[in-house]
Amino acid sequence: MAINEAEEIVGYCICSVSHTSAHLISIAVQTEVRRRGVATSLLQRTVEFLRARGVGELWLEVNLKNVEAVNLYLKLGFEKEEVLRKYYSDGSDAIRMRLITLQLPKVIKGGG
Ligand SMILES: CC(C)(COP(=O)(O)OP(=O)(O)OC[C@H]1O[C@@H](n2cnc3c(N)ncnc32)[C@H](O)[C@@H]1OP(=O)(O)O)[C@@H](O)C(=O)NCCC(=O)NCCS
Repeated sequence: MAINEAEEIVGYCICSVSHTSAHLISIAVQTEVRRRGVATSLLQRTVEFLRARGVGELWLEVNLKNVEAVNLYLKLGFEKEEVLRKYYSDGSDAIRMRLITLQLPKVIKGGG
């Protein structure tokens, strides 16, 4: 959760975790404080939390028309994996995206 000076909740992020994979269920920031890096900070802290626990990937689905959210995820390094046609009840499409949270260890060549 993100809290302001008055100790009010101005943003939140919810994930589910299963073994080494996590799913972003919901993220939202109060309208008045948007575009100030709150969602970025929430997601960065979430990724640090997952990484520290050995969770290697974070998945999500986002409405193709949700430019704000798609831009946010692309900026944080999520990659588009597939388009899900008519994913939502109103018939709109989603994009499934994934962020690799854990770097694979580098293979050291020629070490003897
Ligand atoms: C999407 C949402 C969580 C972003 O929260 P935020 O705190 O405003 O995001 P940030 O300030 O961290 O923005 C990070 C980046 O996201 C993108 N972004 C955010 N708002 C944007 C907008 N209105 N238009 C275009 N890109 C936008 C930009 O790339 C931005 O980086 P920049 O400011 O350096 O250009 C917020 O708009 C929201 O709560 N929307 C309603 C709920 C929602 O759609 N949740 C996602 C469902 S999957």
